[in-house]
Amino acid sequence: MKEFKRYLLTAALPYANGPVHIGHMAGVYLPGDIYARYLRAKKLDVKFVSGSDEHGVPITIRAMKENVTPQQIVDKYHAIIKDSFEQMGISFDIYSRTSNAVHHKTAQDFFLNLYNKGLFEERESEQYFDEEKQMFLADRYIVGTCPICGNTNAYGDQCEKCGSSLSPEQLINPRSVLSDAVPIKKKTKHWYFPLQDYENFLRQWILEDHKEWKNNVYGQCKSWLDKGLQPRAMTRDSNWGVKVPLPGTEGKVLYVWFDAPIGYISATKELTDNWKDYWYSEDTKLVHFIGKDNIVFHCIIFPSMLQAHGDFVLPENVPANEFLNIEGQKVSTSRNWAVWINEYLEDFPGQQDVLRYVLCANAPETKDNDFTWKDFQDRNNSELVSIFGNFVNRTFVLMHKLCKGKVPPLHTEIMDDTDKALIQEFGNTKTKVENLLEQFKFRDALFEVIDLARKGNKYMQDKQPWIVAKQTTDDGQPKTEAQQAIDNCLHICLQLCANLAILINPFLPFTAKKLLHMMKVVEKLLEWENAGKLKLLSTGYSLRAPELLFRKIEDEEVKAQVDKLEQNAKAAAANEKAVLQTDTKSKMEDEQENKPELKPEIVFDDFAKIDLKVGTIISAEKVEKADKLLKLEIDLGFEKRIILSGIAQHFSPEEITGKQVVVVANLAPRKMRGIESNGMILMADDNEGKLHFVRPENVIGNGSGVS
Ligand code: 2FM
Ligand code: ZN
Repeated sequence: MKEFKRYLLTAALPYANGPVHIGHMAGVYLPGDIYARYLRAKKLDVKFVSGSDEHGVPITIRAMKENVTPQQIVDKYHAIIKDSFEQMGISFDIYSRTSNAVHHKTAQDFFLNLYNKGLFEERESEQYFDEEKQMFLADRYIVGTCPICGNTNAYGDQCEKCGSSLSPEQLINPRSVLSDAVPIKKKTKHWYFPLQDYENFLRQWILEDHKEWKNNVYGQCKSWLDKGLQPRAMTRDSNWGVKVPLPGTEGKVLYVWFDAPIGYISATKELTDNWKDYWYSEDTKLVHFIGKDNIVFHCIIFPSMLQAHGDFVLPENVPANEFLNIEGQKVSTSRNWAVWINEYLEDFPGQQDVLRYVLCANAPETKDNDFTWKDFQDRNNSELVSIFGNFVNRTFVLMHKLCKGKVPPLHTEIMDDTDKALIQEFGNTKTKVENLLEQFKFRDALFEVIDLARKGNKYMQDKQPWIVAKQTTDDGQPKTEAQQAIDNCLHICLQLCANLAILINPFLPFTAKKLLHMMKVVEKLLEWENAGKLKLLSTGYSLRAPELLFRKIEDEEVKAQVDKLEQNAKAAAANEKAVLQTDTKSKMEDEQENKPELKPEIVFDDFAKIDLKVGTIISAEKVEKADKLLKLEIDLGFEKRIILSGIAQHFSPEEITGKQVVVVANLAPRKMRGIESNGMILMADDNEGKLHFVRPENVIGNGSGVS
């Protein structure tokens, strides 16, 4: 394995348009922090950088909604996010922001470097323009009807109902989010980065040279490369962002995904004058911590930009995680289905490590995972309290009771196999944790540490020093052999506590600090090389009384959190409905009619072109790497066929197998995720956005027509 002189760890820059939630924490910041703390404990040269991503369309939309400036939005959320990270112990060496002057200059210089090499292709194209607001519309600013599923509120880049990626041109009846006006097409010029020219480089660098990357990352990269890369516009028409550093480009900014990753470079520049040592040297191990939605930007686009620029080191690894759901549902900012870190810190003061523990134990490392408050309680009560906390507490209480509050001596001559076996585990655990952390398997690494505490409990239970203490002489003192056995047990358990402090420190730094305080030792003890050693605490050294490391979490606390989640979601839904109603109302004022907006009128012949047939779902399965799609096999009586349907978030494959449905049977085939879909299933969606199958009232023959 290559030895590196320096480590540069980056964590995705969160958009400063809202606070961070537990999904961000579990997927990106906690793994990054654990890794950074581990490397620092090994006395390696580490820089861990991040910052707020303050540009991009969502921020401008939020500003518009709240009737404030984008700068006001980012100032507000940058402060909240930064504070959440600090309080959660995310040990960035710098947490910067992309509105800083140094970042604007760095991003512009980077752009100019590529521009001066003649790399960009200048293209004129027609884009949607809102005449009322006098501005070009970014894809997210345009809504219309999805050509795939008929959702009337699909965005210009994606339909959130069926999950299809779209371009604004595909939308039926497009309208501007800003004014509701029908946008016109207008010419504009942009600078395109020729991503396709980097395909060979990327194939070699990722598919050949980095086969060790996580399967989810490697697989996503391969699929992008297999689909073929296209030139990508690196500029946008907007007034919010890094200005394009070319003459005559008023009203144009760099694409947010061009400037954001350069934010890692700017942050390092701000942090140290030696920033080039980290970015320009093959001796640096660059690791990007990100969520799965950022893979293409960090593995395909940014590395190609770095390669085009030259000089820069490429990431050695990009250990992206999947998503964390909450109580079985996807985190959604708009539906307010989230556990916000700033709120957690208020509701559970001083309990940062509990959340760190539960999020690491449930980290979505290989697949999407679920966070539930019940699991939060269980893991706290039965793992942190009953295993880790209990072991430390028993050790300290007994040491005060049976060894006068001092580290007792170790009588090596009477050590038995049980003693030796446990001591052996100190070193074994260290090695296992190291190997797992090097592979970014944070959950398993954490479980090894907990397992060591579990072994400590078992050892204590086997040795039962409180029983041994009952073997007394006539004056009530334990017999010499008995005292020696007690000494050995507590000596070993105390050394184990010191080992646990070192091993748990990257994961639960607040707990490690408390242990240091109880053991009256300085931070130096936490250096990784000390793990596995038996002689960390000196014989005769007096230690403090135990303090409780963890407290039980009660049922009421958990219930309150679940209620809060549900109330927040209800309030958000009501709010959205109110907004929709107001919007619709203003639209209706001219029409003086209270009916939903319908698509343009069609004649009977138009309708007659659609061939609707009844069929039965005979099998259903999830489509790999497509959260929303289910692959259905439908029996239409006269034939069986495969249809992809964007309903995976509403139904499990099991619950719909065997159900009758109505199929648009003569829809042209369409390929999604490499699978050909032959038709469409009819669904009704209610006011709450819930989907329902449209089907005959009674089971009838497959292949029956619907008219
Ligand atoms: O997905 C996001 O939240 C982006 N703001 C991440 C940017 S990461 C980087 F490139 F800065
Ligand atoms: Zn759709």
